[in-house]
Amino acid sequence: MAGFAREAFRGNNRFLLRLAVIAALGGFLFGYDTGIISGAQLYIQKDFDTSKLAQQWIVGALLVGAMVGAAIASWSADRFGRKWTKVAAGTIYVIGGLASAFAPNVGVLLGSRFVLGLAVGSASFVSVEYISEHTPPKLRGGVTSFNQLMITSGILIAYLVAAAFQNLPGTWRWMLGLSVVPGLALAIGMLMLPSSPRWLVAHDRDDEARDVLRRTRSDQESDDEVAEIRKTVDEAGETRIVDLFRARLRPLMVAGLALAIFQQLIGVNTIVYYSATILKATGLSAGDSVLQAVSVGVTNVVFTIVAILLIDRAGRRPLLLTGTAVAVVALVGLGAWFQFDSLHAQGWVALAFLLLFMAGFAVGLGPVFWLMISEIYPLGIRSRAMSVATIANWAANFVVSFLFLALVDWLGRPGTFWLYAAFGIIAIVYFTLKLPETKDRSLEQIEAELSGTK
Ligand code: BGC
Repeated sequence: MAGFAREAFRGNNRFLLRLAVIAALGGFLFGYDTGIISGAQLYIQKDFDTSKLAQQWIVGALLVGAMVGAAIASWSADRFGRKWTKVAAGTIYVIGGLASAFAPNVGVLLGSRFVLGLAVGSASFVSVEYISEHTPPKLRGGVTSFNQLMITSGILIAYLVAAAFQNLPGTWRWMLGLSVVPGLALAIGMLMLPSSPRWLVAHDRDDEARDVLRRTRSDQESDDEVAEIRKTVDEAGETRIVDLFRARLRPLMVAGLALAIFQQLIGVNTIVYYSATILKATGLSAGDSVLQAVSVGVTNVVFTIVAILLIDRAGRRPLLLTGTAVAVVALVGLGAWFQFDSLHAQGWVALAFLLLFMAGFAVGLGPVFWLMISEIYPLGIRSRAMSVATIANWAANFVVSFLFLALVDWLGRPGTFWLYAAFGIIAIVYFTLKLPETKDRSLEQIEAELSGTK
């Protein structure tokens, strides 16, 4: 475990860490903006007297915006680069954050949540792509997963902000407006960082790419790496979006989509956003359940750190498989808790299962989905493939979040959690059979092995 930390804080790697933290502010805003809305909703409803449908759309507008944002970024991350796409995302965060904080009516609020979604959707994958393309193989898993750490921190801070601003006048405007600060930091911070070396080579700017790599590698290593990227770019030739679904790349596209969809079908956002409600149903008092929802957030952060420390040693597959298995056990337990009266007296047992679920997700599907979609696709088509997987992830997020309450009515709580567990089992079987291991290889070696360019 200590190996990653020792290596990451050594000499040149400090620049890499700074780069990863700034780029991962996109992840922070992703977590904060999706997390804050459940706390803000109560007060918005009081001010605007919103209908149930309007409330659902205040949540949904961001998710729809995120799908559109991810689609736009598939083009801009190639055309203008990962760096400038993230500068644009930071700027849009600031505009969307201000517009939602000052919204005079529900219409403007919905519009500004959609605009924020554009930034969330594009930053969600471009952050990961940018960091992954800068990082040497032996640190790539951990450093790239900083983005997931920032997502989980954003969710946790959103829980805390919502608790701190309770019962203050104009509460929800502050809750939404605060995202302007990290938005601004992202836009300005990205202006000061270099472009991705891989994007530079793909645009025939090899000398600039070499200069960027020299900030974290020796001269010799940088020369070798640029030569390897150049060779890969030349051999790959032109790629079009339809190629993603042709024989050679189809298995990789399916793998990315499976990771994207299973990450949501296991019900993570139900747990993240409804944990206070779930805990209230266990008979814990309202105050207790908020506090314990915070402990769900803390568990998510802590186990993401565990994943960061382990992922380059242990590899992606072992963490993914173990983490998902733990999450499945927790879901079966949670369902049983709601099903069997004998367990009901013990509220803490339900809490224990929620925390176990969060720990399993945080070491497995949470970081591994985002990391692996940045690794398995060839450079020539990386942004477009990542964008397709990201859109699928947001779409599945939308469907699962919207259906949760209806599903509970239909299947009951036990049935709902057992259904999530069943998806988890299918995921484990699929991952075991089909998912490649990507640790310790350069992105170019992975491209040669998986897409058959060698
Ligand atoms: C997922 C989000 C989820 C978060 C929870 C992310 O990787 O994409 O949908 O809310 O993890 O930690």
